[in-house]
Amino acid sequence: MTEPFEPPRLVWPTTTVRESFLAGERADCLAEGTSTEWLDTADDDFDAFVSQRRGVHVRWSVPCTTFWYISGRHYLGTLIIRHDLTPELVEAGGHVGYHIVVPWRRQGHATRMLAAGLVECRRLGLNRVLLTCAHDNEASRRVILANGGVPDRPVRREDRFWIALNGRPDPD
Ligand SMILES: CC(C)(COP(=O)(O)OP(=O)(O)OC[C@H]1O[C@@H](n2cnc3c(N)ncnc32)[C@H](O)[C@@H]1OP(=O)(O)O)[C@@H](O)C(=O)NCCC(=O)NCCS
Repeated sequence: MTEPFEPPRLVWPTTTVRESFLAGERADCLAEGTSTEWLDTADDDFDAFVSQRRGVHVRWSVPCTTFWYISGRHYLGTLIIRHDLTPELVEAGGHVGYHIVVPWRRQGHATRMLAAGLVECRRLGLNRVLLTCAHDNEASRRVILANGGVPDRPVRREDRFWIALNGRPDPD
């Protein structure tokens, strides 16, 4: 019997999606021509891999929270919230980074995952968030615009958008 497809949700990294995480991320690496070595390490000790990613951890010199977007045992993608910005992140990266793995793309998941991520940003006390995407990343631009992104000045090849989370117009 086929399992019903549960509405996907953002959760902390979890071992319950081990097989689909490894398969989905491997498909991404193959599609992008990047190394799969890090997945071999994850495969060797998935419990440790997951526990290193749960809770607040420091990356890009700022506190970050990593969420996985899952439906039952299916892993669809990752969303990372950076609680703060550095001068580098103001130019490229912003508060939120995300990807949907290749097998689940073009089904509206990134648009809904970012909407769920914005709820988490609000919970963390952020009043507005910066999102950036490469100028030629049409899919990501659409995801950001569908979630209320207001364009700011681009920096080099990076388009930049703000999303207000407090329902009030941006005071700047
Ligand atoms: C960008 C990404 C997250 C989009 O994920 P997704 O689940 O396919 O996105 P959605 O299904 O929600 O699609 C959002 C919109 O982009 C469009 N779209 C999706 N893939 C597209 C593509 N390859 N080319 C052009 N448009 C595309 C969809 O048709 C949809 O348009 P609509 O809102 O006008 O209907 C995914 O392609 C990805 O993970 N890419 C690699 C990592 C990345 O670029 N992350 C963002 C960094 S800023």
